[in-house]
Amino acid sequence: MAASDTRRVVRGGVDEVAVARALRTLLDAGGDVDVFSGARAVHDAPMHPRERVLVHGVVDRVRRQTATGRLLLREVLHTMGVVAGPILRTTGGRPALPIGVVASLAHDDDVAVCVAGAGVNLALGVDVEPALPLPAEIVDDVVTSTGDRAAVAVDGVVDPVRARLLFCVKEAVYKACFPLDEVFLEFADVAVVEGALPGRVEATTRTGWRVTVTTTSSPVLLACARVRFGQSTATFR
Ligand SMILES: CC(C)(COP(=O)(O)OP(=O)(O)OC[C@H]1O[C@@H](n2cnc3c(N)ncnc32)[C@H](O)[C@@H]1OP(=O)(O)O)[C@@H](O)C(=O)NCCC(=O)NCCS
Repeated sequence: MAASDTRRVVRGGVDEVAVARALRTLLDAGGDVDVFSGARAVHDAPMHPRERVLVHGVVDRVRRQTATGRLLLREVLHTMGVVAGPILRTTGGRPALPIGVVASLAHDDDVAVCVAGAGVNLALGVDVEPALPLPAEIVDDVVTSTGDRAAVAVDGVVDPVRARLLFCVKEAVYKACFPLDEVFLEFADVAVVEGALPGRVEATTRTGWRVTVTTTSSPVLLACARVRFGQSTATFR
């Protein structure tokens, strides 16, 4: 049986089962027993025929990521009892989802991850990155507030791998919040206000959302952001 046909797949040194477990642990640590999740090694996954428009003209690496993310999301939705058709893109690039479903997906070269839930009182965002340092030239773009610096510092010095985890945190926050108000956020528009990385942090956005983010740095960098509306400090306009 080819490696791509086995359930436990390792590519680029990333074990999809280990990543799936790490993501599940994050969700459980955040009390998110109602959130479903999964991880899949990036591979030549079958696409729904209507999804092929998403990969027209893209390089192989992006095609594999796009296809694997959608296969994974469909699998996770299936475990929720939701039969999903094609997963296209809607405003701003976010996934077009069945009514009543919230979900987020992310992929790097090796692995795709996703989280999904149901209901109108929940927003979700997820991000994944290799467990490597953030390139020095973008550290100041990502680490932008006092709370950010406190979250990623070791003995007062910015730790570059934690800085990359902060990058994940901010991307996960963006993916959770964009579907709520469709406002584009820069890195400086998201700030850690409590907590340290890796671990659980609270972040706020320029637009008024308060977001809980759980993270890990092993076996990859993972951040899962959620807004539960009973706990949000959002200002409704
Ligand atoms: C959305 C974004 C963060 C995704 O990051 P990425 O590194 O390109 O890709 P990831 O693998 O992490 O995530 C891709 C998935 O994010 C999701 N996504 C894309 N745009 C989204 C949006 N506006 N809202 C929610 N989810 C979105 C899609 O499901 C996408 O999967 P697909 O490409 O298979 O359709 C990025 O494309 C973007 O738009 N960045 C601008 C905003 C930003 O980063 N600001 C700084 C942080 S606050």
